[in-house]
Amino acid sequence: MVGPWLEEILPELIEFRRDLHAHPELSFKEFRTTDKLVERLEAAGLKPRRLEGTGLTVDVGEGPITTALRGDIDALPIIEETGLPFASKNHGVTHACGHDVHTTTMLGVALVLHGMHRVRPLGGTVRIIFQPAEETMPGGALSCIEQGVLEGVPRIMALHCDPRINVGQIGTRIGAITSASDTIKIELTGRGGHTSRPHLTEDLVFALSQIAVNVPAVLSRRVDVRSGVSVVWGQISAGSAPNAIPASGYMAGTMRCLDRDAWHDAGELLDDVVREIAAPYGVEVHLEHTRGVPPVVNSEDETAIIEAAARAELGEHAVVLTPQSMGGEDFAWFLADIPGAMMRLGTHTPGGEEYDLHRGDFIVDERALGYAVQVLAAAALRTIRDL
Ligand code: NI
Repeated sequence: MVGPWLEEILPELIEFRRDLHAHPELSFKEFRTTDKLVERLEAAGLKPRRLEGTGLTVDVGEGPITTALRGDIDALPIIEETGLPFASKNHGVTHACGHDVHTTTMLGVALVLHGMHRVRPLGGTVRIIFQPAEETMPGGALSCIEQGVLEGVPRIMALHCDPRINVGQIGTRIGAITSASDTIKIELTGRGGHTSRPHLTEDLVFALSQIAVNVPAVLSRRVDVRSGVSVVWGQISAGSAPNAIPASGYMAGTMRCLDRDAWHDAGELLDDVVREIAAPYGVEVHLEHTRGVPPVVNSEDETAIIEAAARAELGEHAVVLTPQSMGGEDFAWFLADIPGAMMRLGTHTPGGEEYDLHRGDFIVDERALGYAVQVLAAAALRTIRDL
């Protein structure tokens, strides 16, 4: 049981989290946060490794790595409106996505496991990754991976606050738990002219309309419909007079997808589909397709490890099923080559106010912090036991 180990450091963790909350930092600018973590981990006798710029990793235990745990450390450019005594002192920046809780959870797990290891060797190593810049595109996950944080790591686990789940519970789901979202921008150029003589022009208004209607149609027939690929245009503009065909036009939209393979397939197809639809009209096509993140796909085994740990630590009713969110999360990049799972951490006070992420008034029930440490430390221990 992790509980007794946690009790000792919980008051300090609450203070640590409040301090982070009062000093939030934007993506790739988490210098103070990184320094605080390094300082505390070194004071415990651990040897954290700083990543380029911001972020760090730390290995706890000895021998082969049995799992990595990842916590994201950045805040959002949102004005805080909670009125909390430890509200943001960095005006315009807020931990409105709960990453202060994620960061402190991972610090807590490191301290708990290290405390245990000093009494009796763990028999394996747990790598903790404090990842910068989850809130930007492309997120900090890719730069962490480029710096080798996954070398020798067989699996990875993570958490995200969820204000729709009661504190004391966690949400899990096997398969995709977040979604992919890409941005598509298309510019068409061609010879404009009089609408009475479209054959002497390259009628890009007509071509834009064809793209608007037919790209979603073709993708719905070429990509598995169960993947929910959805192309929706948010912008379309061209022309300035009813009787003149313009020389340029623009449209932009998003492509969302529930499934990783389909996201890949749809992305590969997109360029060809747009060009083939536009080809008969002779217009010039400039396509900008920005890949967001793939969905986070939770593996069966790692989800089971988290669920078993949660039930053992927090009780039989601690695990609830969570729906797939349409939001994106760059933890997905860690899962490209190794299995893993992300759990939702309940932060809602039963009977209390309803909050949502990415809002200035977002408040977390602080008890969630201790529960998160318990569950993830216990889950990490289970991966060592299974060595
Ligand atoms: Ni977040």
